[in-house]
Amino acid sequence: MTTQTAAFEIVELTPAYAAVAAALHQTGFEECWDETAICDLLAVPGAFGLLAFVPQGNLFKGETIVSDMPLGFVLVQTVLDEAEINTIVVDAKARRHGVGNVLMQGVFARLQNQASTRLLLEVAIDNAAAIALYRKLGFAEIGRRRGYYRRKDRPAVDALVMERV
Ligand SMILES: CC(C)(COP(=O)(O)OP(=O)(O)OC[C@H]1O[C@@H](n2cnc3c(N)ncnc32)[C@H](O)[C@@H]1OP(=O)(O)O)[C@@H](O)C(=O)NCCC(=O)NCCS
Repeated sequence: MTTQTAAFEIVELTPAYAAVAAALHQTGFEECWDETAICDLLAVPGAFGLLAFVPQGNLFKGETIVSDMPLGFVLVQTVLDEAEINTIVVDAKARRHGVGNVLMQGVFARLQNQASTRLLLEVAIDNAAAIALYRKLGFAEIGRRRGYYRRKDRPAVDALVMERV
């Protein structure tokens, strides 16, 4: 199933797109995941992912896209009545155009059809963009993990644990 938006579409992230997802992940994280890591996460029972892309011929940022352009993806793990955002990333060149929001709306729609009642995530306390996105989407802080994210050449930072309430 695809979801048409003004400029881009959301499709299921399958292992066939693992290389695309790995390239996107590199644009957002110091510790990036390769194709194998993404395939391994997708293979866990209860996992799913969504991929956003601009179809060839559509306009994005005022330009006509000449071949399908990946924009970002989200990976989710569900376990019984709980779901967790494993990762979400939007290509650095495509941020602040609503892609993250549309990916998360896709997750909410998907979870509505499943038994998941709680949606949780962890986010570094220095990640202002992601925290702003999550707050806007109704997530609230429910805990903190000390020194959860290791950083290159810098002290580790805490993670906020957030739940959509
Ligand atoms: C977090 C991330 C996924 C957001 O994706 P995005 O496509 O840029 O987000 P959207 O354009 O849908 O933004 C939706 C809302 O989130 C908030 N937001 C997003 N980026 C923001 C920023 N840099 N500063 C402040 N608010 C921001 C805003 O409220 C925004 O709405 P607005 O543009 O109408 O003001 C993107 O910044 C990213 O990939 N970051 C690197 C990877 C990462 O940190 N992932 C999260 C790990 S927990």
